[in-house]
Amino acid sequence: MHDNFLHKAKDWDALPLRVQNTLSISHAIMNEFKLNDSMEIMDFGVGTGLLGFEIARHVKKVYGVDTSKSMLEQLEAKNTPELSITPLCQDIVAEPLSQKFDGVISSMTLHHIEHLDQFFKVLHRHLKDESFIAIADLEREDGTFHSDNTGVFHFGFDTDELIKIVEDAGFWHVKVQTTHTISKPHRDFPIFLLSARKR
Ligand SMILES: C[S@@+](CC[C@H](N)C(=O)[O-])C[C@H]1O[C@@H](n2cnc3c(N)ncnc32)[C@H](O)[C@@H]1O
Repeated sequence: MHDNFLHKAKDWDALPLRVQNTLSISHAIMNEFKLNDSMEIMDFGVGTGLLGFEIARHVKKVYGVDTSKSMLEQLEAKNTPELSITPLCQDIVAEPLSQKFDGVISSMTLHHIEHLDQFFKVLHRHLKDESFIAIADLEREDGTFHSDNTGVFHFGFDTDELIKIVEDAGFWHVKVQTTHTISKPHRDFPIFLLSARKR
């Protein structure tokens, strides 16, 4: 599997704006859904676990799905006996997991997914009844968020279009909120959280 994050993984956590963004997303998720210590959650595109570890404190277990070995190596180095994420290096669209989850969270990964209809249907199949999704990413941008757009299939999202895709995949109570704004020298980039329940 080609690893687009090979050269980014080591210093991923060193950027304060990244850490701040995932903290805002985790607060928004916890305001939206009541987490408890019986829940098993998938963090899709977990990376080094910036979001996953925040959520892991409040649930039974977080499973971190990612296709980048180098990002998962950074994650594993942060695991402790007290707080850990189980890494799963797998393309779950091509090769679904047999396990079902109480919720799927995701931060800044959706723009790397080419076929969104298919993706949300795959997520639906990984969820238990009445479980939730909480997916954060960039609102529509002009292609200047990343300095290199390799592996980027969407320059952010039109959230109305996304809501329709998510509803068509079998979710309801779909809601979008702005959780944070990433300020770069040339522009501000608002970040949304889409939350929904399995219908
Ligand atoms: C921008 S990073 C975000 C990482 C982390 N969620 C965060 O907020 O710091 C995107 C992550 O998604 C992963 N990714 C990209 N395409 C993927 C796919 N099809 N399946 C699983 N993970 C994927 C990348 O390897 C990378 O770790």
